[in-house]
Amino acid sequence: MKRLAFALLLVSACSGAPKLEDQACPPGGTTLTYANFGKAFVDGYCVRCHGGPNGYSSRALNTVESIRASAARVYTNATGDNPPMPPGPDDPTPEERAKLAEWLACGAP
Ligand code: HEC
Repeated sequence: MKRLAFALLLVSACSGAPKLEDQACPPGGTTLTYANFGKAFVDGYCVRCHGGPNGYSSRALNTVESIRASAARVYTNATGDNPPMPPGPDDPTPEERAKLAEWLACGAP
């Protein structure tokens, strides 16, 4: 019974996680770019662990190309209501997370 409850918890947690393909880029495009938004966001919240081969995580997010390559995983793990990344305690604001979602949905220009 415990195992079933855990499985159900996992299923509901996964189905609630935001998916990049579910968000469209706004019709007029986005004004957000790596230069005016993305770089400061990842430098402030992600790069200390996702800085490349010698980082805490092997998933590099320290260049715009590396972010684009991981865009779907970044979207799922760092946007929405209570995402796991960054692991805290200095979380981005909901506004910053919404910007991240829009920027990724537009292809991280
Ligand atoms: C305190 C260190 C730390 C910080 C800060 C951090 N991460 Fe992570 N992250 C990890 C670790 C550890 C893992 C798990 C190992 C892995 O997948 O490389 C991970 C995993 C991930 C994954 C892969 C998870 C998956 O299931 O695909 C993504 C995507 C990610 N982080 C994105 C981010 C983003 C975006 C930020 C900034 C908003 C961030 N992380 C900040 C340590 C960190």
